[in-house]
Amino acid sequence: MFDKLRNKLAMQKVKPVMEVLGVDMHCHLLPGVDDGSADLDSTYELLKVMAHLGFKKVYLTPHFQAKYPNEEKDIEQRYDALRKEMASKGGANLPKLAGIAGEYRFDDLYARQPDGPRPLTLPGKRLLCEFSRFGSKELPLELFRQFQNQGYSLILAHPERYSYLNMYLPEIKGLIDMGVRLQVNTLSLVGFYGETPRQRGYQYIQQGWVDYLGTDMHNMRYASALMEAANDSKLLQTLEHYQFKNNEL
Ligand SMILES: [Fe+2]
Repeated sequence: MFDKLRNKLAMQKVKPVMEVLGVDMHCHLLPGVDDGSADLDSTYELLKVMAHLGFKKVYLTPHFQAKYPNEEKDIEQRYDALRKEMASKGGANLPKLAGIAGEYRFDDLYARQPDGPRPLTLPGKRLLCEFSRFGSKELPLELFRQFQNQGYSLILAHPERYSYLNMYLPEIKGLIDMGVRLQVNTLSLVGFYGETPRQRGYQYIQQGWVDYLGTDMHNMRYASALMEAANDSKLLQTLEHYQFKNNEL
């Protein structure tokens, strides 16, 4: 109860600094399917925070990985049900639920194959991918190439968080050279995951490799941190000066 009150007060003060992005393309707000929003009420509260931050559209991107072996059909049904629920809750003041995609992990335990079930993608067959936090035997460059040959564009989620994926190593350059684009987590830029991801996030942006910022919103802890981030001057400058492509989605 106290938390709710505190968040309500924080929301009243927050400025809509994410208006310039307009669209969040990476978050875990589909209730009860992964380590994101636990239930409908949480999703509603988190969407309210997003509205206050200035987001107009949100794509939901639940995990597809060994720990959360979701299936596309089930996820789509749950998404349809959520849209109906949100409409009945008077969703007019909330960001529009613009679509359902997935955050597909490629690691030693799980890797979607190009000839497997059709993945849920962002518009333009953009496939949001992530790697293991702890590294794999090798990066899935060949697999990525096969997806590209089938018309997919690959977006690598939060590269700044993979401690083994140093931007000066040939691997990351190899990904960029083959046309993979990057999505940095907004919260990385304010040190939510530590100093090294913060620095790396800015380095990737300065290289011009980053097309998107994502909230990667999971729960109220992220929401509170994002409301605080709305006062971070370096983040605000970056939002103003760098041409992110969120609003093209
Ligand atoms: Fe995520």
